[in-house]
Amino acid sequence: MKKVLVIHGPNMNMLGIREPGIYGEGTFPELEAYIDSTAQELGFEAEFFQSNHEGEIVDRIQEAYGNADCILINPAAYTHTSVAILDALRAVGLPVAEVHLSDIAGREEFRRFSYVSLYAGKTVTGLGWEGYRVALEYLAGIGL
Ligand code: DQA
Repeated sequence: MKKVLVIHGPNMNMLGIREPGIYGEGTFPELEAYIDSTAQELGFEAEFFQSNHEGEIVDRIQEAYGNADCILINPAAYTHTSVAILDALRAVGLPVAEVHLSDIAGREEFRRFSYVSLYAGKTVTGLGWEGYRVALEYLAGIGL
């Protein structure tokens, strides 16, 4: 079975509490359960990692080298700031799909640019949880 590493960045563990008008009322464990069942449906084994620390995310991406087939990432605020996460993704060279719950293009100016989009094969924004399904369908369709 193909393995997808699912990475979430800072404050994603606060889903359900943080700005529900933007991110919805579902909790983070509920979102991970949704991703897990969707991944299984599409033939993936999913592994999950969430961190509020940039370096820990870089470490986890590096560990994926030789241990995962692809990466699904919502880097959260690091999307807009982290050259280190972009470089780590490029370093391991695995296929990447990027997801954002909200429509980052329609919010504050500082959310419009994504470093990760410079590498990700697919970026899905503004679809809420459904965006993870679209991203997993992309990864399932690239012939890993
Ligand atoms: C987010 C969008 C980011 O701009 C924000 O910092 C997040 C969540 C999203 O899923 O919509 O934490 O990645």
